[in-house]
Amino acid sequence: MAFVAGSHHVTLSVGHAQEDVDFHVKVLGLRFIKKTVLYDGSTPVYHLYYSNANGDPSSVITTFPWAQHGIYGTRGTNQAREVLLSVPTGSLEFWSKRLSDHDIDSAFVDIFGQRRLAFVHPSGIEYLFVENEDDPRVGFTGGGVGTEHAIHGIHGVGIHVYDQDPSVDFAQNVFFAQEGVQEEGDRARFQIGQAGFGNWVELTGNRTDPQGTWRYGAGSYHHFAWNLRTLNNQSQVKFDIEGAGYTDISELKNRTYFKSHYVRMPGGALFELAVTHNEGGWDCDESPEELGSAFMLPEQFEDERESILAQLEPID
Ligand SMILES: [Fe+2]
Repeated sequence: MAFVAGSHHVTLSVGHAQEDVDFHVKVLGLRFIKKTVLYDGSTPVYHLYYSNANGDPSSVITTFPWAQHGIYGTRGTNQAREVLLSVPTGSLEFWSKRLSDHDIDSAFVDIFGQRRLAFVHPSGIEYLFVENEDDPRVGFTGGGVGTEHAIHGIHGVGIHVYDQDPSVDFAQNVFFAQEGVQEEGDRARFQIGQAGFGNWVELTGNRTDPQGTWRYGAGSYHHFAWNLRTLNNQSQVKFDIEGAGYTDISELKNRTYFKSHYVRMPGGALFELAVTHNEGGWDCDESPEELGSAFMLPEQFEDERESILAQLEPID
């Protein structure tokens, strides 16, 4: 039986590289695990990876800093918009103060009976910390944030949609939604796949904003990746998605650390179907202790290393 295990990673188009590293590492205390480039297209752009302590699937945020090329996106409806991250229960006061110490405003909100803290990435992308009790994923403490506060990993994805129904239909009939849709105000939510955490989809009805950009552009959410766990399962899931009529699904792309297909769900969010295969994983080209310290390039770009580096903003 085909399945989705849970989430894999979140990918965002952000502003400048240094600003993004400072935000994720110095403010959020995430672990910097990989510095490489976007593998698609001819414009050299960094691909930066951040994670919790163990780099678990479901704990990774990756970014493309597009501002250095002057390419900006807009946030709107019919696109993924909110980065939902899971933090320990009782940690929100700490985070509110820490954000404020870094001149970032935040607001406490209550949604679906959970305490949350809303704030924005320097590029404008919306983040929500969601308190979760008993989340087993281990937060990274090397960035100066203690275990009792450190980010466990992804909580889910917030998607703004003109109409929630086609997305619920896709999730329930094609994409492994668990039983039951909860609704509160203009939000509906459900879990995808087998996991007990990190796999929430929240659909916000939004008929006010114009449609957000789908292309890469600083300040916009690009895609949400699901963990398909094995290559066999991944190809079965692709086959079944095509069988339901969603034939606009990409070929298998080799991202070195994982292999993926991409498909856009009816609400406009791009979903990635990722598998960390046997030859992949964050430590396939750097030792676990050295993750993120070198500038990694895939074989096809290795010959152009000097010229690529010369076109990228330096990162401290
Ligand atoms: Fe991705």
